[in-house]
Amino acid sequence: MYLEYWGFNKPPFENNPDPDIFYMSGPHIEGLTRLVYAARTRKGLSILVGDIGSGKTALLKVFINKISSENRYDIALISNPCQESTEFLKDVLYKLGLTDVPITRVEILRVLEERLMENARAGKDTVLMVDEAQMLSPATLEEIRLLLNFNSSGMSFISVFLLGQTGLLTRIQRQRQVRQRISVSYFLKPLDLKETARYIFFRQRRAGLKNNVFTRQAIEMIYRHSNGLAGTINNLCDMALLVGFGEKNKMINLAIIKDVIQDGEI
Ligand SMILES: Nc1ncnc2c1ncn2[C@@H]1O[C@H](COP(=O)(O)OP(=O)(O)O)[C@@H](O)[C@H]1O
Ligand SMILES: [Mg+2]
Repeated sequence: MYLEYWGFNKPPFENNPDPDIFYMSGPHIEGLTRLVYAARTRKGLSILVGDIGSGKTALLKVFINKISSENRYDIALISNPCQESTEFLKDVLYKLGLTDVPITRVEILRVLEERLMENARAGKDTVLMVDEAQMLSPATLEEIRLLLNFNSSGMSFISVFLLGQTGLLTRIQRQRQVRQRISVSYFLKPLDLKETARYIFFRQRRAGLKNNVFTRQAIEMIYRHSNGLAGTINNLCDMALLVGFGEKNKMINLAIIKDVIQDGEI
């Protein structure tokens, strides 16, 4: 591997949503602020959409870390939602730590309501987070809306966060009643050129490098090809470091990035 050659102490551009190497770009800060605000003020339904690789899952991890430290939240995180709505509800219970999950929908809802009330009495907020929420079926979206109806004097007992690709919005648009419940909605924009450069510097530093090995032209090409999507930036940078190592280059220049783009399916 190229780590030693370049002087990294760990892989700098791994595609893994690790909160410890999270770069707070403008769009990510804004998205996080809205999510935290929605949790603190117990907004019913919040939506965060963005293209594949824009950093939704990574942001979600940072969000969970942030609010978990307050010790006031009972969080159910569903990363790959089931299509079938009763299965989905079962998964919610399971993720809340209830292992004795009933079979019928009515019973599941009763157990869930009990848990929501119990949390409310203990001064805790129940939070449901669904990643890849563009996969939710209309019936499951409707079930989520009904969960928001568990409330006392208009304040929901549960806050729901749906994160997904932009198709999620189209799906919700079709369900008027779900759409009407949205309190916070945010589109996570890709990085611009400046943020792309900062992101690349940041990931190198976090992997133990003091300087930057990407030339300005290389970064401009990475930006153009990735459209500022972190997932693609990672793949390009990783391959470029490998090629640069193979060729014993001192820097990652434009020619290397062009090679990587031409060779691969990145
Ligand atoms: N702000 C960020 N800081 C650090 N790494 C990030 C950031 N945003 C995205 N990434 C990286 O890009 C990869 C793809 O992001 P991810 O959150 O999986 O995108 P999405 O869920 O929107 O498809 C992540 O695994 C992570 O390595
Ligand atoms: Mg994701």
